[in-house]
Amino acid sequence: MPESVILTSRPRVLSGMRPTGKLHLGNYMGALANWVKLQDAYECYFFIADLHALTTDYADPSRVKLHTLDVALDWLAAGLDPEKSTIFIQSHVSQHAELHLLFSMITPLGWLERVPSYKEQQENLTGKDLSTYGFLGYPLLQAADILLYQAQFVPVGQDQVAHVELTREVARRFNSMYKTVVFPEPEALLTPSPKLTGTDGRKMSKSYGNAIGISEPPALVAKKVVEMSTNGQRIRQTDPGDPDLCPVGDLHKVFSSPEMNSLIQHRCRNATIRCEFCKIDAANSVCAVTQPISDKRFRLEGEIEGTWEMLRRMSVKAAARAEQTMLSVRNIFDLSRDLGSVRRYFGTSAEDIKNAHDLSHHSDWWMLPQDQRAKLLRDYWRSNFLPRDVQLSQESNRVFASLDRELEEPFISAKKKRVFVTTSRDVNTEDKWNFEIPSRSYEVWTLLCWRSENKWLHDFVVPQKIFSQQFAFAKRSMKKDEKIQVTVTRVEGNHFFLGIAGQTSRNIDELQSNYEPLK
Ligand code: TRP
Ligand code: SF4
Repeated sequence: MPESVILTSRPRVLSGMRPTGKLHLGNYMGALANWVKLQDAYECYFFIADLHALTTDYADPSRVKLHTLDVALDWLAAGLDPEKSTIFIQSHVSQHAELHLLFSMITPLGWLERVPSYKEQQENLTGKDLSTYGFLGYPLLQAADILLYQAQFVPVGQDQVAHVELTREVARRFNSMYKTVVFPEPEALLTPSPKLTGTDGRKMSKSYGNAIGISEPPALVAKKVVEMSTNGQRIRQTDPGDPDLCPVGDLHKVFSSPEMNSLIQHRCRNATIRCEFCKIDAANSVCAVTQPISDKRFRLEGEIEGTWEMLRRMSVKAAARAEQTMLSVRNIFDLSRDLGSVRRYFGTSAEDIKNAHDLSHHSDWWMLPQDQRAKLLRDYWRSNFLPRDVQLSQESNRVFASLDRELEEPFISAKKKRVFVTTSRDVNTEDKWNFEIPSRSYEVWTLLCWRSENKWLHDFVVPQKIFSQQFAFAKRSMKKDEKIQVTVTRVEGNHFFLGIAGQTSRNIDELQSNYEPLK
C-alpha cells in the first residue's frame, strides 16, 4: 500500500494536550496551528492526555470525558486531519500506563523531584492536594507517551522542554541499562508562542476566564475584542497610545496583516483612530481565523458519535503501533506473553512444536504499515518460537538508514550461518505467500507465512543447499539490486510448495518449524 510507504519514511512526531475543555487563541497559536502544518511533512501522533488530567483532577473526574471531546472537536475543526494523522485518546491505549509503570522501575526519585514544574504547580494549584504519587510521576507518564511511539520530535512550548529533557534521560538510561537501542532520544520542536493577552490584560488562560475560544461564534469573539482592556492606554481618545502595551495591539500582531499593523502603529501613536475602530479591525482579523473553525465545529457537534468513533478507531491504530514497542520492552523485562525462552529452558524440541503457530491474538498487527509489521513479526518469531538450543544473534548497536535496510540484515547462528528472516508482503492471496529476497548471500532463509485473516503463522526454515541451484539460476537472469521473487503455496489443505523466481516448485512440508538448520 503506497500510503504506508510514505508514512514510514517521514520522521515521527508526537504531541499531546491535557483535556481542559475548548481551546483558546493561545492554545491555537502556541501549538495547534503548528501541528496542523506538521501533518504533511511528518508521521504525526496527536493525543488527548486524559490520564494526565487525572493527576490533578482525580478528586472530581466528572468532566474529563466532556473535555476530551471538546478538545477533539476543536482539533478537527482547526484542521487536524484523521486521514493524515493518528488522533487518539491516551487512556484508550493501555500501553501508555504499562510503559509508565515499567519506567517507574528504573527512574530515580530525584529526577522527578527536580523537574521544575513539580514544585511550581504544587504551589500554584493550592486548591488541590498534589502531594500524590501520580502527580510526581506526571513527567514520567509523558516520557512513556513519547517513547512508546519512538518519536523523534515533540512539538511543544517552552514550558514543556524540561519534560522532553527528562524523556531523553529515561531513554538513555533504559538503552544503556539493557544494552539496546529501543528508544531514540526525542527532540523538542519548539513552537514559538507569541505573546497573547487575555481580554483583561493578563496572560490568556482558561483559569483567568479571560480567554477567547477558537471555535466561538464570530459575534461573541467580536464582543470580547470590543470590550477588551487597552491596559490603560488612551483613556481619552485624544491621548496618543502605544500599541505595544495594549492587548488589542497584540491581537493585531498575531492576526492582522503587516499593512494593517503599520497603520495601527501609526494611528494609535498619533491618536488618529478611535480604539473602538481599532478593536473592530482586530476582531475582523481574529474572526478570519476563528470563523471557519467555529463553522466546522458547529457541523461536527451535529454528530459527535462520528468523532467519538474516529477517536476509538484511531486509538486502536495507535495501540497497534504502541504494541510494537511494548513487545521489545516486555522481552527485555522477560514479561513476554508467550513461553519464549522459558520454553527453551525446559528443553522443548523442534519435534514438540512441529505445528504452525497460533497468532490470532495479534490480529491488530495488521493495522501497522507493512515494514513495521515485518520487523515485529520477525522479532516475535525469534524470541518466541525457537527451541532452546537455537540462538540467533544480531549486532545490537547498529543503526540502519531505513527499516527496509534493517530487515535485509541477517541474523547469525551459533555456527556463524547468515540467516535471513522475512515475511510475506501481500495480504490478499488465498493460500499463497509472496516474498522478496535481496540477492545477497544468506545461508538460510526463514520464510514467515501469515495473512491478515489467518490464525496460523507457518514458518519455513530453508537451508541453502535446497535452493542453491535455483538461486544461481535466478541470479543470472536478474538485474543488479533486483530482488528474488519467492512463493510459498499451500495445496490440499496442508502441503506447502516453494517456488523461486517462477521456477518449478518443491515440497517443503518437512521444513515447517524445523529449526535444525539454525543450530
Ligand atoms: N504535559 C503536556 C502539557 O501540559 C501534555 C502532554 C502529555 C504531552 N503527554 C505529552 C505533550 C507528550 C507532548 C508529548 O501541555
Ligand atoms: Fe489599543 Fe488600538 Fe486603542 Fe491603540 S488604538 S490603545 S492599539 S485599542
